[in-house]
Amino acid sequence: MLKSYFITGTDTDVGKTWITAGLARALRNIGIDVGVMKPFATGKPQKIGFKSKDVEILSDAAKVNDPENLVNPQFFQIPASPYTAMKNPNVHEKVDLNLILQCFKKLTEIHESIFVEGMGGIMTPILKNYFVTDLINDLNLELIIVTRTRIGTLNHTILTCKLAKQYGIRVKGIIINDIDPDGYDVKILKDDIEDITGISVLGFIPFFQTLDIDQMAKIFQNNFDLKILN
Ligand SMILES: Nc1ncnc2c1ncn2[C@@H]1O[C@H](COP(=O)(O)OP(=O)(O)OP(=O)(O)O)[C@@H](O)[C@H]1O
Ligand SMILES: [Mg+2]
Repeated sequence: MLKSYFITGTDTDVGKTWITAGLARALRNIGIDVGVMKPFATGKPQKIGFKSKDVEILSDAAKVNDPENLVNPQFFQIPASPYTAMKNPNVHEKVDLNLILQCFKKLTEIHESIFVEGMGGIMTPILKNYFVTDLINDLNLELIIVTRTRIGTLNHTILTCKLAKQYGIRVKGIIINDIDPDGYDVKILKDDIEDITGISVLGFIPFFQTLDIDQMAKIFQNNFDLKILN
């Protein structure tokens, strides 16, 4: 039985959605019934289909037909942290943590394993005193950290690992998204991250000229040891 995971990033826009999607498709390809979740999504809603593009990419990749309000229980129409968005006078919904936990539980009853995409980074606020770190602990999930290669990434990666440790979160490993042309050499970055944090780099994802879920899944199936996720 495959474990469930929470996927965070060292920042927004590092590739959490595509990497979660790629993992989900790779696992689906090898016969695992994997579900996906984006507890909170924020931003301008899409005109067609799911309100959140992330939820669409994740659901398509995992090949699930779960209702939108189960995969993404809360959507705020402001591109900001859930905490910031919820305070906006145009947003009438409040953060409902019980709803998030109930939806996660339901998804775990439907699927063998759930991959939960976080919002922004590990300290993105959900309430004034409740961060993504607290959500990871309440969901009782191990963490996968997505990082990029841009110079400055070591700072963000080390901060994320140290915070996870401080919150008692188990970190399964780090995935490097090699998307920055003038960034670190991935092999050097891997060594430095592992030496400094003691956390394993699970692998690298190359830059794709055209993002394609099958290509992404192939990287996970061919270059990663998916068995360690068990
Ligand atoms: N390996 C890659 N090759 C090419 N483009 C990529 C790659 N990874 C991500 N991208 C692009 O980078 C952007 C950010 O990726 P993604 O949406 O997965 O980030 P995110 O961390 O989920 O962001 P958010 O915090 O908004 O949820 C997207 O436009 C995506 O198409
Ligand atoms: Mg995303």
